[in-house]
Amino acid sequence: MKPKILIARAIFPEVIARLAQHFDVTSNQADELWTSTQMIDKLQGKQGVFTTGGERIDAALLAACPDLKICANMAVGYNNFDLDAMTSAGVLATNAPDVLTETTADFGFALLMATARRITESEHYLRAGKWTKWSYDMFAGAEVHGSTLGILGMGRIGQGIAKRGALGFGMEVIYHNRSRLDAGIEAECKARYVSKEELLKNADHVVLVLPYSAASHHTIGAAELALMKPGATLVNIARGGIVDDAALAAALRNKTIAAAGLDVFEGEPKVHPDLLALSNVVLTPHIASATLPTRLAMANLAADNLIAFLSGKRPLTPLNTAVLATK
Ligand code: 8YV
Repeated sequence: MKPKILIARAIFPEVIARLAQHFDVTSNQADELWTSTQMIDKLQGKQGVFTTGGERIDAALLAACPDLKICANMAVGYNNFDLDAMTSAGVLATNAPDVLTETTADFGFALLMATARRITESEHYLRAGKWTKWSYDMFAGAEVHGSTLGILGMGRIGQGIAKRGALGFGMEVIYHNRSRLDAGIEAECKARYVSKEELLKNADHVVLVLPYSAASHHTIGAAELALMKPGATLVNIARGGIVDDAALAAALRNKTIAAAGLDVFEGEPKVHPDLLALSNVVLTPHIASATLPTRLAMANLAADNLIAFLSGKRPLTPLNTAVLATK
């Protein structure tokens, strides 16, 4: 008898086919968005679940799904998991790091460029038929090359963005992180450690790449935005909730900062209506890791974790390793 697993969202058919060699698979290729009650219902008798980052796994769900042994997230971020509750319930959590690092760093940089150089705003102007003549200051934006790049959250993706800025665009890179990086990594990224306040005051472009938790909720609010330069841009590719979106909309409207680029939102896929009304913000629907090769690699990594763990082998990217020690 093969173990039973649930795939909570639509994914690549070839990954389902791989999983089906090992498991009795229930998939969701219709891509329905289930309530937690429906999810609990679907999980009955399942040993594993493949999640994509949006499905909440908490104490109530775990208590109602006693057969569950592993939740494999197809995302590097795992704020949809209550890790403590999973550890208490003896359920393994895995995420999908590394395979998305460079693609996500590419996108962070693309969003910075689009924001600083007003690419979507000017395209909307052109498409609206408003472009009747060239003028010297039309859509004049902020300089990217040679400017100061501030990175809040200097994990793998933050380091990728730092390298793009320092080595590709001659930017001065400053960063802030919970813990300072080794001197060797700082040298590789040409990045200098500063306090959060110093970063906000000195950066021309601030990029947020820190994980979401209760501690990082509203890391950027009205007070932090007030510290930034009036010409600065803010880019969020981390998680909604790291930024107070209402405060950001007010800061963009009042020109406290020049512009923002957002790939993630509080309460997404809903977007704060005040942000939608502004022209100095570039808005994308959580696509930083969205290239087909990267998404396929993320899905295969989540699948590899399920296959390894449920066949008694060590999973590739476990989060709560305390669970493994008890096996
Ligand atoms: C995912 C992400 O696309 O990996 C993450 O943490 O935010 C994105 O790469 C998203 O979580 C859905 O899987």
